[in-house]
Amino acid sequence: MRVIALLMAAGSGTRFGAASPKQYLPLLGRPVLRHAAEALLADGLVEAILPVVPAGQEAQVGAMLDGLPCLPPVAGGDSRQQSVQAGLRALAAAAPDAVLVHDAARPILPAGTVTALVEALKTHPGAIPAQPVTDTLKAGSGGVIDRTVPRAGLFRAQTPQAFRFAALLQAHRDATSEATDDASLLEAAGLPVALLPGSESNIKVTYPEDLVRAEAALLPRLL
Ligand code: C5P
Repeated sequence: MRVIALLMAAGSGTRFGAASPKQYLPLLGRPVLRHAAEALLADGLVEAILPVVPAGQEAQVGAMLDGLPCLPPVAGGDSRQQSVQAGLRALAAAAPDAVLVHDAARPILPAGTVTALVEALKTHPGAIPAQPVTDTLKAGSGGVIDRTVPRAGLFRAQTPQAFRFAALLQAHRDATSEATDDASLLEAAGLPVALLPGSESNIKVTYPEDLVRAEAALLPRLL
């Protein structure tokens, strides 16, 4: 199966509050997004990575990924969904069997994650890693709790998310609203998406303290 990964790096990272996007920040001396790319490649199943980046920053990101099997970076859009669509358009000619969509802000993947996701595509059009919710969930408004949401059967979706290429392309063409992940679009189309175990080390760098946690998770691997 030919697998290509979209590395989603076109966000501005405003919640992080740094001058440059969070996916460019150094983590143990290398950009967060380079860690994410290397993690995708580690299982040896991904043929190439297509970085989706802020318009005008194609060369800068290309340099950060120097030496890795990457296609020329393409410019993303205003929303994550538009950015994924830009990536899928750029992949149309290559027409891989499967595509992974991964947040460049997620630098750590346990070994075997990509293998398990690609294996799941033999029986499902999509597959994602997800962690069961452990906190008690509240719905609220105006600073007051409205109700408690039962957490049984609820999961936190992570990336990389894996899809049969044709299924994801069609789901994006049919999308009628903005989604924060790609599995939502298959769900809307009534297609089954496999839930595989995620990992607490698969941290999405969103706030400065996440970078500290990512460093702590990566350090033991270097010793
Ligand atoms: O905003 P959020 O944390 O959900 O973004 C997840 C990933 O999607 C990040 O790696 C970000 O760079 C990427 N993204 C994108 N294009 C956008 C917004 C976010 O590629 N317009």
